[in-house]
Amino acid sequence: MMKKVYVTRPVPDSGPKMLLDAGFDARVSDEDRVLTRDEIIANIRDCEGVFCLLTDKFDGAVMDCAPKLRIIGQMAVGYDNIDVAAATARGIAVSNTPGVLTDATADLAWALLMSASRRVVEGDRWMRSGTWAGWGPMQLLGGDLAGRTLGIVGAGRIGYAVARRSRGWDMKVLYHDPIARPEMESELGARKVGIEELLRESDYISLHCPLIPETRHFIGKAQLEMMKPTAYLINTSRGPVIDEAALAEALMNKRIAGAGLDVYENEPKVNPVLMKLDNVVLLPHLGSASTGTRQKMSAMTAENIIAALEGRTPPNCVNLHVLKGK
Ligand code: GLV
Repeated sequence: MMKKVYVTRPVPDSGPKMLLDAGFDARVSDEDRVLTRDEIIANIRDCEGVFCLLTDKFDGAVMDCAPKLRIIGQMAVGYDNIDVAAATARGIAVSNTPGVLTDATADLAWALLMSASRRVVEGDRWMRSGTWAGWGPMQLLGGDLAGRTLGIVGAGRIGYAVARRSRGWDMKVLYHDPIARPEMESELGARKVGIEELLRESDYISLHCPLIPETRHFIGKAQLEMMKPTAYLINTSRGPVIDEAALAEALMNKRIAGAGLDVYENEPKVNPVLMKLDNVVLLPHLGSASTGTRQKMSAMTAENIIAALEGRTPPNCVNLHVLKGK
């Protein structure tokens, strides 16, 4: 009997093709939308593998509906939508797609940083309104980049890549992370600091930590109050890392200069106050959304699933100990 793998939404074709070529019965949902919990359960019931997305919730109860499940292969680097402890307890491997989306996500953080700072989207809206009457010396003045200080919260692969891009503007780099990054210090002159120093000193703060219990609302009212009134906050990590209501209030009161957000606390919902403000740029979770990157993510997800179902260790297993002793 061919092993069954369910792909929860249409994805770039590299991954599904690899699954078929490897001899699996791979079925792709034909609905380009997030499936409901019941739909996921109905579709994975007799599957050995599932190819899923960050919008799919996998808890123990869902896993219990798929007794043959060996691997949950997530097409994303973040996997806070999956209860990894529940998977581990059931002997199910969980995998993600690190590395292949580092550049695309770092690029998008910079796109947000520059758009927020130089008021690119606001300018575009003005042009489209048809009310621009020509150049003016006081119009849409924004922030400066050269020589300013960039604060990186979470100095993993993506945080490092964002920091490296700042060399073009000779920026000073501060970072906050539980782990020291000596190579980032020697390559970029970056300095590891406590969160308070980072918040107080940075002109641009970019978040790159995973969403874990310790990082939920890591940036709240108190932290926003420590930021310079001229500073910008960029988030391409996960929405709940910021207390979105506190950020909306800080932006409304011009407590900070601006923000660029790719992720939200309750996606796809966005705080209604943010929607009305001009000093925030809002993107629909596009961090890894380049054609090449998404093909690589799809292929990497398939590679992990194939490995697990062929009895090998998935190259990007996040709960490796699950396989130990098997
Ligand atoms: C996207 O948000 C990812 O985690 O890959």
